[in-house]
Amino acid sequence: MRKPWLWLPPKWAHDIMPWALPMAAALSLKKENKFRPIEWRNLKFKNPLGIAGGVDKSGQTLLSWQDLGCGFVEVGTVTPQRQSANPGRILDRSIPHKAVWNKMGFPNQGAEACHARLTKIKPHLSIPLFVNIGKNRDTDNNNAHNDYIKCIDILKNFADVFVVNISSPNTAGLRDLTSQDYLSSFIGPITEHKNRIGLKTPIVLKLSPDMHASELESVLETSLKLGIDGWILTNTTASRPPGISFPKEGGLSGEPLKSKSIESLEACLKFLGPRKENRLVVSVGGASEASDIQRRIALGADLVQLYSALIFEGPWLFRNLVHNLGRPNVI
Ligand code: FNR
Repeated sequence: MRKPWLWLPPKWAHDIMPWALPMAAALSLKKENKFRPIEWRNLKFKNPLGIAGGVDKSGQTLLSWQDLGCGFVEVGTVTPQRQSANPGRILDRSIPHKAVWNKMGFPNQGAEACHARLTKIKPHLSIPLFVNIGKNRDTDNNNAHNDYIKCIDILKNFADVFVVNISSPNTAGLRDLTSQDYLSSFIGPITEHKNRIGLKTPIVLKLSPDMHASELESVLETSLKLGIDGWILTNTTASRPPGISFPKEGGLSGEPLKSKSIESLEACLKFLGPRKENRLVVSVGGASEASDIQRRIALGADLVQLYSALIFEGPWLFRNLVHNLGRPNVI
């Protein structure tokens, strides 16, 4: 039984992660990180691979992921107030399709609890920390920016990069924030606040794979104008490719998301062209193999994140990838 966690119900396998990961980190073979380090705005990434949003919602496992070979880590989505998961079934997977379905809805312990945990952890992190922030489910969209500003104020001493998550399909109405009705009045106050308090931490937007090309372009255009520093593409998809039978609500990730994620990356880079300049583009969605990661980087992604592949391949995937990706003939 090479991957015993795949015998457990998905939610159990998810819940034992904080206990199992330190063991996995201690027991697995250390492999040389042969990847060329990357520097972006004074942040040093020893390789371009990191955990995606949602892998560690409250900062319990960041040090283990660092030990397991990540070039950077992300915590969250964190909301101002603690909140529980959506009711009912919230997680499932299809091993043959290498697909994950979730309807979690930002369960987390709240920004103050995250602050307390990061106070202890951050001094031991030698890799960049992305802090992914969101709104509580009962905050309406007209006031959503205030939730993000609260999270920024509470967590600003720890974040190397803030990720503004407006693309989860599991918080009702959240994706509407990317519509032209909301986008400027949502992002504007956040970047104005950042400037007012003199915060230098970059802010990137995490986007949905379900936008049409024209919607993606207008989100990029508006966010460029309003001083956003980069984009993470993509979150889970609300679409269901043929042959995949998960509930219609919730988000799908893993292998079936790969083509949409790469299309979004290509569309983003094509639209930005030289305007990408020193902005950050992170690719996420169905990444699992060295060749696929290599392709995203060749297309122009600066960094790549993983979630679903860790479920199917195990937590030592990072060590194997940075070893294989780093071979001089591959770079
Ligand atoms: C996620 N994802 C996610 N994203 C985010 O920004 N905040 C979050 O809290 C979560 N939570 C979450 C839970 C679960 C169970 C999954 C599977 C995913 C989305 C994740 O970060 C990523 O964008 C997608 O999963 C696509 O990447 P993979 O899984 O195909 O590598």
